[in-house]
Amino acid sequence: MEQICLTSTARQRSREARRNGKRIGFVPTMGYLHEGHLSLVRTAIRQTDFCVVSVYVNPTQFGQGEDLASYPRDLEKDRCLLEAEGVDILFTPTDDQMYPGMDQTRVFVPKLANGLCGAFRPTHFEGVCRIVAKLFHVVEPDVAYFGQKDYQQAAILRKMAQDLLMPVEICILPTIRDNDGLAMSSRNIYLDPLERQAALSLHQGLQQGKGLVMRGENSPSRIEAAVREVIESNPLVQSVDYVAVVDPDGLQPCFFPLRLPILIAVAAHVGKARLIDNVYVTGDG
Ligand code: PAJ
Repeated sequence: MEQICLTSTARQRSREARRNGKRIGFVPTMGYLHEGHLSLVRTAIRQTDFCVVSVYVNPTQFGQGEDLASYPRDLEKDRCLLEAEGVDILFTPTDDQMYPGMDQTRVFVPKLANGLCGAFRPTHFEGVCRIVAKLFHVVEPDVAYFGQKDYQQAAILRKMAQDLLMPVEICILPTIRDNDGLAMSSRNIYLDPLERQAALSLHQGLQQGKGLVMRGENSPSRIEAAVREVIESNPLVQSVDYVAVVDPDGLQPCFFPLRLPILIAVAAHVGKARLIDNVYVTGDG
């Protein structure tokens, strides 16, 4: 595995690989890797011929007062994990490489980005789109891999790639969970044992909501209320940003009577962590 910090070198390696007939798979991350990230890496390695993983904590996707400075970092460990998986290129650019001047260009996908997390983090998805567009232009991947855990992010990036004619396929893979159901996240490190227990209520609430739908409940507001009740019944959950039943394509609120498939998505604050999770409910479970 080669570690590269320069955009010019990363682009050169990708182009060499492509000239040799290889398909390039790309997994963008902010590091502090866990099994969720590694599941994307393993699929990329299985499905493509040349695997590039980026580790870059992107400042423009953090809002004022968010955890940019304290975001967990352990590049040495990340490097060992990726080496063991058989990754070809670890791309670790500096801020100077990704933001060499003052950007004027912005990338908005307003309809998909305004609701859910976008309502609480108004500049977040613009920052995500901007950095991922730049990374795509550097790595020039054939396929890029994202997790369903960040469903809204993946939906926005898929639309961005489609709208801007970026020649990359966006592949969205299932959420990887700890044994008890907690969705893995780099930010889970912020939780102490009691908070971690409280964080489980997001998954439990979603399971409750899914169960109601499977038993025929067709009122979005009743489902949202039931999910919210499970989450809020835990005193260590400080606040719930949202519980929403939306259509999985447009991410717009569903109306009564519900038609499947739906996405139930939640965001809540537990301790210092803002946690998100979601469940996709189809007609066949
Ligand atoms: P990060 O939070 O590091 O996540 C990198 C990728 O891993 C994302 O596609 C995310 O959805 C996926 N992922 C995280 N937890 C997961 C889990 N439990 N199961 C499956 N996949 C999971 O998302 C970002 O970084 C950034 O916004 C980025 C796209 C890199 C742009 O800066």
